[in-house]
Amino acid sequence: YRLVKHCAISIFLTACHTLINRMEYFFYVIKTKKSTFMANMSKATQNYTRITTRTLAELKAKGEKIAMLTAYDFTMAGIVDKAGIDVILVGDSASNVMAGHETTLPITLDQMIYHAASVVRGVERALVVVDLPFGTYQADSKEALRSAIRIMKEAGAHAVKLEGGSQIQDSIERILKAGIPVMGHLGLTPQSIYKFGTYSVRAKEEEEAEQLLKDAQMLEKSGCFGIVVEKIPAKLAEKVTQTVNIPVIGIGAGAQVDGQVLVLNDMLGMNKEFSPRFLRRYLDLDGAISNAVQEYTTDVKKQDFPNDKEQY
Ligand code: KIV
Repeated sequence: YRLVKHCAISIFLTACHTLINRMEYFFYVIKTKKSTFMANMSKATQNYTRITTRTLAELKAKGEKIAMLTAYDFTMAGIVDKAGIDVILVGDSASNVMAGHETTLPITLDQMIYHAASVVRGVERALVVVDLPFGTYQADSKEALRSAIRIMKEAGAHAVKLEGGSQIQDSIERILKAGIPVMGHLGLTPQSIYKFGTYSVRAKEEEEAEQLLKDAQMLEKSGCFGIVVEKIPAKLAEKVTQTVNIPVIGIGAGAQVDGQVLVLNDMLGMNKEFSPRFLRRYLDLDGAISNAVQEYTTDVKKQDFPNDKEQY
């Protein structure tokens, strides 16, 4: 009996030992992977405590890609910033993903300032670019400048983005003259959706492609620090990138550009209905949130939450 007991104890101890070793190895792998990730991320980040428009020019010159994402609130902006993103765009896509509008047209300047100010409060390192919403810069350049000044002053933004080329050249130049950095936006410009009638790929025809290239050159000459090109053929985006010396950031514009931008909610998988070809989902946040809410609801109903330790 004593021999059997002795054997059982040693088998049990060996099993425990093996289990502890395995767990130690598991945590070691996780830790190493995390630090490798941090080391990779910091290649771009370490050198810059604050990303500026100048940094973006340096990144283009070095051939290092620029990573840009949208954000609309303090909490998400803080997470995205700490993860090492270069540029945060407070896009007027807030009109769709935050407010549930069908287009970007309804969002107002006051609402954009509210989102932008929340984002700026959460950001320590990234460059924060804010969209001028529809109707705040097209009528005349003085109104455009007034709108841009409000965004810079009231939200604390670092730069503004405007959709369009030669049609809004006056507005762009007036804003730039006031010392406000401007980012252009060509190709699919969602504020003009009712003119296009569709969200499909732009500038497939030669005439439109030539105009887009001219507009990009005009934006560079005027003094814009960068251009977003949305949903245009990859070859055209590559040509624009090679033609201008300012960074060209693509969305649905292929890989041969200086950087990429995506709408945060789309890349986190918060919107299952929106599935364009260019979108890569990095998370199923819709599924994760839904599971968490279901679990919580069940726990509340069966009086499992809160337990004794979760109360005062
Ligand atoms: O508003 C937005 O999110 C944008 C990006 C799609 C570039 O303009």
